Amino acid sequence: MNEILHQLCCIGCGARIPGAAARSDFRCTECGELYDVEYPGWSQRGGLDRPNAGGLKWVLRERRSSTEAVDQSGVWRFRELLPILDNFGNAVTLREGNTPLYHLTRAARALRIDQLFAKHQGMNPTGSFKDTGMTAAMSVAKAWGFECVACASTGNTSAAMAAYAARAGLRSLVLIPEGKIAWGKLSQAMDFGAVTCQLKTDFDGCLRLLSQIVNEAPIYLLNSVNPYRLEGQKTPAFEIAEAFDWTVPDHLIVPGGNLGNSSALGKGFREMLELGLVARMPKISVVQAAGANPLVRSFREHQAASLEPVEAHTRATAIRIGNPASWRKAVRAIQETGGWCLDVTEAEIAIAKAEIGAEGLGCEPASAVTLAGLKKLRAEGKVASGETVVLMLTGHSLKDADYTIDFHRGALLSKEETVGREAEIAALRRDAVAVDATPAAVLAALRGSAR
Ligand code: F0G
Repeated sequence: MNEILHQLCCIGCGARIPGAAARSDFRCTECGELYDVEYPGWSQRGGLDRPNAGGLKWVLRERRSSTEAVDQSGVWRFRELLPILDNFGNAVTLREGNTPLYHLTRAARALRIDQLFAKHQGMNPTGSFKDTGMTAAMSVAKAWGFECVACASTGNTSAAMAAYAARAGLRSLVLIPEGKIAWGKLSQAMDFGAVTCQLKTDFDGCLRLLSQIVNEAPIYLLNSVNPYRLEGQKTPAFEIAEAFDWTVPDHLIVPGGNLGNSSALGKGFREMLELGLVARMPKISVVQAAGANPLVRSFREHQAASLEPVEAHTRATAIRIGNPASWRKAVRAIQETGGWCLDVTEAEIAIAKAEIGAEGLGCEPASAVTLAGLKKLRAEGKVASGETVVLMLTGHSLKDADYTIDFHRGALLSKEETVGREAEIAALRRDAVAVDATPAAVLAALRGSAR
């Protein structure tokens, strides 16, 4: 670990501690809030530790032709912007990051937005954005000499953790809410050799329990309360700025669950601004499912000064979270960039997901809240047609194939949920049809399904 270049700063009381002094649940000993990783040398203009913006852009271009694992990783190629390790050659990497930025042409046309993109983080090694955070925090776990790591998860964190733990040669423990995660994700945790405990509680209960467990045993906590996770998860912000030739889009739309990701992206853009890599920050908006919307309620009812946990219900199981740990950090990202916090219904999520599928991309349900949210923001006049918008698609379509199949078979949503949207849904549905094994029957099926 590089204890000289970084320290942890509490977002509640501002207390600063060395990384080695963090409690095992990553809560401040003074006030119980979470920490940010901070690089004190960056605030000294002209100081040796402060990355030089021009030089860094040049180095990043050079690294594109490198065959070294740390240069091929979309996280560690930005290592000057997350100098947490002593030796980057020891990073635990699966060549995460470097995810594609796709033009969403159909949705752009339908919404009359000139520039609409999807940053598809589902194209990471284990199929979700969690890999970018996991490479960072798992490298820290290894550097500290831990033999066992653990997380509570709605599925994707556990898949990523299990994979990176296996690569690092560490044991991993997964706590998941029984029956409430998608099978694809559970299968990954099993495949990668994690000890997987299905608990009769929700995600929030799993995280509460794990915070107690890590106080009693030498197990490294890898949920996004671990500030090193967010150091990895901020790097897609760098990739986006780089893809726009170090300008930034006007608006970034992110799904909100435990609220680590929106916080991390906010940190990434904030740091680029401070270092002179970009000239401004994009608006960052967070979209939650209407049945799991504690942050939306916090903005609506308490001006985001406090948050009351809710009992969460949504078929977008990845974001079925009622008591998000990083909510204060997410509020900071939304408020400092002038973004919004909004929620969308189950039908809106399902329709948006099918539309992203129809663009040839696909994503998991939690990711589709971004397009559903954009539609709302556009309808309310909060996004103008000339703006450049990036949707963060957080997970791969195959993570939750059951959801997709249920939608196309008409078995996903109830009648009440679809009232007034029947035609829209019918136009998107593509159920598999049973036909005779003859050319005539197959061609008839093709004609019958012409869009
Ligand atoms: N999208 C997907 C696909 C997710 O898996 C998650 C979170 C989110 C969005 C929300 O991100 O929590 O940073 O606000 N999944 C976690 C997990 C909680 O355990 O896999 P967030």
